[in-house]
Amino acid sequence: MKIPVGFAVAVLALSMLAGCAAKKEEVPVSVTLEKSEFGLVDGKPAQLYVLRNTNGMEIAVTNYGAHLTRVKTPDAKGNVADVVLGFDSLEGYLGKHPYMGATVGRYANRIAKGRFTLNEKEYRLATNNGPNALHGGLEGFDKKLWSAEEVPTNDGPAVRFTYVSPDGEEGYPGTLTVSVTYSLKADNQIQIDYRATTDADTVLNVTNHSYFNLAGAGKGSILDHVVTINADRFTPVDSGLIPTGELRQVDATPFDFRSPVAIGARIDANEEQIKLGGGYDHNFVLNGDTGNLRLAARVKENTSGRVLEVLTDQPGLQFYTGNFLDGSVTGKGGTAYGKRFGFCLETQHFPDSPNRAVFPSVVLKPGDTFTSTTVYRFLTESR
Ligand code: BGC
Repeated sequence: MKIPVGFAVAVLALSMLAGCAAKKEEVPVSVTLEKSEFGLVDGKPAQLYVLRNTNGMEIAVTNYGAHLTRVKTPDAKGNVADVVLGFDSLEGYLGKHPYMGATVGRYANRIAKGRFTLNEKEYRLATNNGPNALHGGLEGFDKKLWSAEEVPTNDGPAVRFTYVSPDGEEGYPGTLTVSVTYSLKADNQIQIDYRATTDADTVLNVTNHSYFNLAGAGKGSILDHVVTINADRFTPVDSGLIPTGELRQVDATPFDFRSPVAIGARIDANEEQIKLGGGYDHNFVLNGDTGNLRLAARVKENTSGRVLEVLTDQPGLQFYTGNFLDGSVTGKGGTAYGKRFGFCLETQHFPDSPNRAVFPSVVLKPGDTFTSTTVYRFLTESR
């Protein structure tokens, strides 16, 4: 039988209180957690954790790849839809797919030629994206079975996944212990907290790779979504989508999202960077200070009135408009996900930073703790 953990805790707390003479206020539980079996990964059970709040929102996460599998959130009229692309069962996540909802690491995005030098030693990674390394390699964090625990927060229980990546895994140095904690807040925010430590110098860049469609997963393209990105500059790329090293001003380019613009307005512009990306597939250099949680992007879908705000303390944001989706992946409810059916806003360090001394450092040393927070905040607005 599935007993929501928050409910069980509330019942326990109440029965304990009943035995006390002192009158205490009942603490309202605004988030509940339900755990169920999700299937087997190499013979080992994976779990699905569903978090629900009292404000109409529900999310689900699994310890397989620490994926965010479901984000059900109300529209302006209170109708709930799942706004992330993904699959109805574990089999979909085990199959070939472009990181839908995954936790990506050790190094999210690309490292040129799968090589980098750290402390004068060259490290070689698998090249799984043309000549380059992408999203942690052949078997990145997205394909690992993480351990899971429930952790308390002010709003109710949250779920923490932990993975220990052995020294040399996928070519990266150091034993890396990484955790990702998913919390759902009473006010419809999803908070994702990353933490990592290492026993030898290494490089690290972790992100969440959710594809959003605020009209509902599978409800066509995202070209009508209206986007704002808090960035004066972006990192132009070469034909392999590796940054050239330049931090280019967005002024007078299709990359100026400092005021709200529909994704589709300039996505097919006759412009070099748009053509290289096949649309938007670029890292934006976020304004404000790295280390401070700040608004990175805001997206509005007008027919539903749903709004997504993304906050991060990281220096960059990969805006990817699902240009490589081609209908070959069939997701929730049997829907084939076509070109531009979802967009990603991946909070991150800049791609290929291990090879770019001018980019903010991604080196993690023993004794230091990497921490980072991403918030996906859901709101509604009438037209
Ligand atoms: C990259 C895309 C890639 C996608 C799926 C994004 O983070 O920027 O180029 O196709 O992930 O792998």
